[in-house]
Amino acid sequence: NWSMSQFVDKEIERIRTLVGDKGQVIGAVSGGVDSTVAAKLMKEAIGDRFHAVLVDNGLLRLNEAVEVKKTLTEGLGINLTVIDASDLFLSRLKGVTDDPEKKRKIIGNTFIDVFLDKAKQIEAEARNTPRAGNIEWLLQGTLYPDVIESISFKGPSSTIKTHHNVGGLPAKMDLKLIEPLRELFKDEVRELGTQLGIPEDLVWRHPFPGPGIGIRILGEVTPEQVRIAREADHIFISEIKAAGLYRHISQAFAALLPVKAVGVMGDKRVHDQVVALRAVVTTDFMTARMFNFWEHDMDFVERVSTRIVNEVQGVCRVFYDTTSKPPGTIEME
Ligand code: XMP
Repeated sequence: NWSMSQFVDKEIERIRTLVGDKGQVIGAVSGGVDSTVAAKLMKEAIGDRFHAVLVDNGLLRLNEAVEVKKTLTEGLGINLTVIDASDLFLSRLKGVTDDPEKKRKIIGNTFIDVFLDKAKQIEAEARNTPRAGNIEWLLQGTLYPDVIESISFKGPSSTIKTHHNVGGLPAKMDLKLIEPLRELFKDEVRELGTQLGIPEDLVWRHPFPGPGIGIRILGEVTPEQVRIAREADHIFISEIKAAGLYRHISQAFAALLPVKAVGVMGDKRVHDQVVALRAVVTTDFMTARMFNFWEHDMDFVERVSTRIVNEVQGVCRVFYDTTSKPPGTIEME
């Protein structure tokens, strides 16, 4: 695509001029399309003077940290460090049972702590490299809609939910922001990703929130709850892909409700946990409707439900979330 390749050339030039020939940039990546595209652009512009950091908060999808590492390092040649901070996140979340905002704050603040630590370490190492200067820049994969949203959310609604994608970090770190995607919409970022050679399945990946499955486990987040939510989610998403429905759906996941219900497994009565499946269709994520699986495949939800109950130890019921946004939100907390 001509206009995209022009954008790439122009943006790479702009980044090189901005950063200079010794400047270094650090940025968090998640494995999502925005941060990966931004990271790949930095890699093309300044090579290993861009340092990508993936904080494994223990709340990523099943096998996600390993797969992201493989794609970004082996596939895209990005200079990436993965930090496994699962234990720290889970220990700080211990005992937080019914305050979603508190959960989000703990996860957000712990992320900042871990990221800052790593940034200091990378900077100390970089000082011993003659060809590199200090880290002065922070990469963010901010898109045009994020920019608009953070401006228009300055009213009372800003307290509805704390998004930690925009703001917070740069001030604490005394870094200048570099935002190569800030003029692009999501579909343009996908086009750009394809142009940059990012694999199709990553380019079309559903969005995943910073607090991860932490806000999809209602009630206390424990290692056992994380296991259940992950396994159920993995079955749901695999079946969606196998049915060829992934790209018809804007976002899908399994959540864990904070209740138990009775069931019969084999010849025994059990008192086990309840999973909720959520799949929505939306263009802008401001409003959304449930994805109607029954329009495509009458047996789909039942099939997923049977697999989850049979394969995920500790689950005896599966519900489908039919709530629109508004009044619901896409995430559960
Ligand atoms: P809601 O739940 O507000 O979600 O309807 C709208 C979109 O935003 C994502 N989301 C988040 N993304 N950090 C993120 O990076 C967050 O704290 C966060 N909360 C919600 C959500 O997954 C959906 O795509």
